[in-house]
Amino acid sequence: MELQAAVRGRRSIRQFRPDAIPRNVLEELLETARWAPSWGNTQPWEITMITGEPLEAFRKANVAAMGNGEPLRNDIPMPETWPEQMKARYMEVGKAVVTSLGLKREDKEGRKRHQVNMAALFGAPCLIVATVPTDVLVEYAMLDVGLLLQTIALAAHDRGLGTCIMASSVHYADLLRRHGSIPGDRRVIMGAVIGYPESEAPINRFERQRADMDIFVKWVG
Ligand SMILES: Cc1cc2nc3c(=O)[nH]c(=O)nc-3n(C[C@H](O)[C@H](O)[C@H](O)COP(=O)(O)O)c2cc1C
Repeated sequence: MELQAAVRGRRSIRQFRPDAIPRNVLEELLETARWAPSWGNTQPWEITMITGEPLEAFRKANVAAMGNGEPLRNDIPMPETWPEQMKARYMEVGKAVVTSLGLKREDKEGRKRHQVNMAALFGAPCLIVATVPTDVLVEYAMLDVGLLLQTIALAAHDRGLGTCIMASSVHYADLLRRHGSIPGDRRVIMGAVIGYPESEAPINRFERQRADMDIFVKWVG
């Protein structure tokens, strides 16, 4: 796939077919992704690929923790507030997701079902968890992990796979440690689900928005 098409065509996928991804396909993606840049080529990341029974056990535990309203136990705390402009964008994508599901604003049950579905990782057959050692400067390492995850997402899109980077997959880091055999000396940064997209599902097709260039670019000189 041509690069422009890959960058413009990649989107977050929130409904997957149940088909497992062959191991060699996942390996191919990771082989490409390991060429992502990192500060001083430190490559601080480690990737845990969770599939099969451990994934099902995690999915169940994550749904239960979310459903019980347990306080979040992320290794990286979630922001509680956002500047107004960013909040508006966040609300906008939330609305687009809910509308694509045919739900009305006041349909609390429907929205709750979506939350449960999100905790269940949108039915994806594989969860990618990026961790870094606890003794590295996390702000820098997070930048590197972001570059790695975007590279994985693009390589996946190129292969007809879909991804969704998901903060909600790392809300309960202890559950990931338990079911993903992630050692205690690693910080869980971010997860991304991957699988074959349900391409026709409206939740995978709604129009996405981006700020115009003049909103976020300043030219000097
Ligand atoms: C760090 C990060 C965390 C995210 N967490 C979630 C999540 O928990 N649930 C979800 O549905 N989407 C999540 N997303 C996807 C974003 O909503 C999505 O990237 C954004 O709306 C832009 O849309 P696009 O990826 O389709 O271009 C996350 C994305 C990033 C980069």
